[in-house]
Amino acid sequence: MPSTLTYQERRGQLLDYFDRTAVDAWKRLTSDVPVSGVRATVREGRLRMRNTLLSWLPVDLQGARILDAGCGTCVMAAELADRGADVLAIDLSPNLVRLGEERFGARRSRGRMRFAVGDFADPALGQFDYVIAMDSLIHYSAQDTARTVAELGHRTRQTICFTYTPSNLLLTSMLAVGRLFPRSDRSPAVVPVDQRHLHRLLTAPALGGHLMPARSARVSHYFYKSQALEVGCA
Ligand SMILES: C[S@@+](CC[C@H](N)C(=O)[O-])C[C@H]1O[C@@H](n2cnc3c(N)ncnc32)[C@H](O)[C@@H]1O
Repeated sequence: MPSTLTYQERRGQLLDYFDRTAVDAWKRLTSDVPVSGVRATVREGRLRMRNTLLSWLPVDLQGARILDAGCGTCVMAAELADRGADVLAIDLSPNLVRLGEERFGARRSRGRMRFAVGDFADPALGQFDYVIAMDSLIHYSAQDTARTVAELGHRTRQTICFTYTPSNLLLTSMLAVGRLFPRSDRSPAVVPVDQRHLHRLLTAPALGGHLMPARSARVSHYFYKSQALEVGCA
């Protein structure tokens, strides 16, 4: 996994935030309970993003081993298991993984779900056919995102589908508005990433030259702005 100080520091902040401050907010956001204004738009935007990522995978995933990297409460992992996949759902936050296991652990599906607490870039997790990382790399720098995808790419047979926060003027102003919210209510800052810069990093020979950016799609729904990228692994 990336050994940079920025990656290690950010990971520590995310563990603290997602395992303590944000547990209840994530529990509600990823359930059906009514949520107010901004959160309702984020929930709808996230649903569109989940469907976008799912549309890039085969409908029948029987026999495929998939990593749900930064699974949160395991909503994506459950969808993948329903398509027949053998899914490893992993997250830094023991509390979020526990919630996911409570929600989906005993549920019947065509495939299988396993749950783990730890770093999604840990080489000990082994090989996968596909890796999905929905909104779990959005807090890392472009360099750390590219390094993480490159490392995962060495252990992925087909594609890695992940999201990042696209940098543009509108988003920058939205992030400025975000600063008006109470600190305790906000996650560690997302890092806006320039698309061309990220593609250059991903395809740089220094990272191995084994990644091939393919489909890309943006979901922009009120406060939710996220860009999906599919990367083929040679
Ligand atoms: C914004 S949440 C998204 C959760 C889930 N993918 C979803 O879409 O509902 C980001 C998650 O990524 C996890 N995460 C961030 N960095 C991680 C890492 N290096 N290893 C494992 N999980 C990580 C966080 O703990 C958090 O639960």
